[in-house]
Amino acid sequence: MSSPTRLSEAIDSAMADIASIEAHASAGSLRLGEIEARLIALARSATFASMEPPAAGATGIYYVLSEPTDPPYGLYLNVAPAGNRAPPHCHGVWCVAVGFRGEETNRFYRFTAGQNGGAGNLDELESRVLAPGAGMCMRADDIHSVDVSGAGPVAHLHLYARRLSQFPELVVYDTATGSRRTAPAPVPKRLDSGAVN
Ligand SMILES: [Fe+2]
Repeated sequence: MSSPTRLSEAIDSAMADIASIEAHASAGSLRLGEIEARLIALARSATFASMEPPAAGATGIYYVLSEPTDPPYGLYLNVAPAGNRAPPHCHGVWCVAVGFRGEETNRFYRFTAGQNGGAGNLDELESRVLAPGAGMCMRADDIHSVDVSGAGPVAHLHLYARRLSQFPELVVYDTATGSRRTAPAPVPKRLDSGAVN
């Protein structure tokens, strides 16, 4: 089988493989590690490596790479400037992220709810650096924060169990007060037609 030379073909091939991984998983089991390996291979492919990601703006932006209808996953290129931070939050759907350009530090937490709806407590469990060649899997109830900790911007791949427009509301945590609130998922942008051809 020849390697795809067009970025859209490389992405479609990876998404088809990921759909197959999920289709062959036994009921109730997620095979996020296999999905992570397939996405790392996509990010490392010559076809993908030749893509120049959009310049980072003042905040993080999600660009659509693929939003298939069945299964209704969303694959995005998340571009964010150095120093950008996302507070602790929970997506409510599983996610696999792999590094493409730049470095960011992800911290993971456990939340203990307060009594009678009062302030809760957020304990940091571990931190992991997402960088080229590395990947990270998150289950639907995982809580993480993001800090673009490298010297430059990041451009990483994020695959979610649902496209962003079909997300449940995010739960965002305040480490200082132990409170939490809901927030809408970000609205992704489209890449210029020349970027994915
Ligand atoms: Fe996140």
